[in-house]
Amino acid sequence: MTPPQVKKIACIGAGYVGGPTMAVIAKNSPDIEVVVVDINEERIKAWNSEALPIYEPGLDEVVRAARGRNLFFSTDTKKHVGEADIVFVSVNTPTKTTGIGAGKAADLTYWEGAARLIASVSTSSKIVVEKSTVPVKTAEAIGKVLKRNCSDPTVNFEILSNPEFLAEGTAIEDLQKPDRVLIGGVDTPSGQAAVAALKWVYNHWIPVERILTANLWSAELAKLTANAFLAQRISSINSISALCEASGANVQQVAHAIGTDSRIGNKFLSASVGFGGSCFQKDILNLCYVCETLGLREVADYWHAVVTMNDYQKQRFVERVIGSMFNTVSNKKIAIFGFAFKKDTGDTRETPAIDVCKGLVRDNAKVAVYDPKVTSEQIFRDMSTPKFEWDRPDYSRSHTRLLDNVEQARNDVTQPFDVSRWCTSLACSIKGIDSCLTSLLTPLFEAASFRLRQSAGLHVPCRLASSHMRWASPWIPSCRRCTERVELALRSGGGPAGLLARLSSP
Ligand SMILES: NC(=O)c1ccc[n+]([C@@H]2O[C@H](COP(=O)([O-])OP(=O)(O)OC[C@H]3O[C@@H](n4cnc5c(N)ncnc54)[C@H](O)[C@@H]3O)[C@@H](O)[C@H]2O)c1
Repeated sequence: MTPPQVKKIACIGAGYVGGPTMAVIAKNSPDIEVVVVDINEERIKAWNSEALPIYEPGLDEVVRAARGRNLFFSTDTKKHVGEADIVFVSVNTPTKTTGIGAGKAADLTYWEGAARLIASVSTSSKIVVEKSTVPVKTAEAIGKVLKRNCSDPTVNFEILSNPEFLAEGTAIEDLQKPDRVLIGGVDTPSGQAAVAALKWVYNHWIPVERILTANLWSAELAKLTANAFLAQRISSINSISALCEASGANVQQVAHAIGTDSRIGNKFLSASVGFGGSCFQKDILNLCYVCETLGLREVADYWHAVVTMNDYQKQRFVERVIGSMFNTVSNKKIAIFGFAFKKDTGDTRETPAIDVCKGLVRDNAKVAVYDPKVTSEQIFRDMSTPKFEWDRPDYSRSHTRLLDNVEQARNDVTQPFDVSRWCTSLACSIKGIDSCLTSLLTPLFEAASFRLRQSAGLHVPCRLASSHMRWASPWIPSCRRCTERVELALRSGGGPAGLLARLSSP
């Protein structure tokens, strides 16, 4: 096969995955220009400075070897994405905090934003690589977004799933010598050519037998499954630690005894305060949500128990500390050594230290924290940020607004929706069913919503029902019962429910 032409790679997202991954690709592939782009100017500034925005052993050296040669960090997303042959998307995919699937489903806002950007600046065909962890079947939706938002019909997008298996703290080692690289693609000639192109990139330093290929859905699901299995081992040994404490057994001895069984192995068998980090909990919850939406309730419950056990372990730890200090920690000074979620990283996302500190502070302890890799501002921010909100830049919160006139909708919104049957003079930016429910801010929209819900057989929130004729009540934010009914209506399709479904299509 002729070697694929890959001259330039762009990566959207200069975070814990995008930065190190691209640095390692650039270091090992001097014949390819690699540009990492991000909307966060501070982050890009730091990547271009001597003080990199994240701490990883060995990262400084890798960046120093390639930066300015064939590795660049930039905020000029349009230029570099437009010029690239391969575009990696490594943006955050946090857990949704509101709307349908809140607390479980992955929020793909940033992913969709990246896809729209790629489509809008592409004048040549591109390979788009899912590096972010996404729910199975995301490539299908992203494919539609890319196709529909690209004005040049001759441009072709091949989507590949290339999940990242690196672990923070050992990221550079994991990237340099991975157990495997997984590439998922579609089984068409152009799909397989795209797989070959990405394989060629990795083959600059990774032996071909370690580069696995699969279909798109298997690759997407493999990442969620890998994290679920790893987290499950932690919860399993932690559950046994509770039993050991109650029975007089020693959890380290039990772990050693079972770990020497070659079928079980000895990794991930140290009992602890519980797992943390940005991925395990998020990915398991996402897996559970996917199972639920596919009607696999028992499977979802099975995996959810891993998260329940993790929460139990953190709570148990706090209770044990308080119990060991005569059942009161009020005004007692307690030192916490290490705030990041594991050693060799400064990452505090979902660190168990947050729950432990909060639990102790709730009991009036005076907590003193030391972590050489975490700033005090970060610790205070973590201690005051609600769960799941840490991964959400402020700009994402204001995604609903009113337009001055209908004309503005044509130029200014992603997908204008004609609500003229109920309302002739307003248009709103509707990005999905979720914002559809919560963005009905005006009395006119309330009335529209009332009729839409009534005709769809949906629950009508009582305040809305009683006030819609007066055109003047404040909209009450989305109600769980409505949300569930809409979910059901969406699945059945057709009629007004079909209309709602169309609102959420890309
Ligand atoms: N952190 C890990 O250890 C790890 C490991 C494997 C996979 N993952 C997955 O990789 C993905 C990224 O994780 P991360 O830890 O690097 O996240 P991160 O939050 O550190 O980085 C994401 C970056 O994307 C940027 N971004 C968002 N939307 C953008 C846009 N439209 N244009 C340009 N930049 C944009 C953000 O500003 C941010 O800097 C997630 O899906 C995560 O689940 C993470």
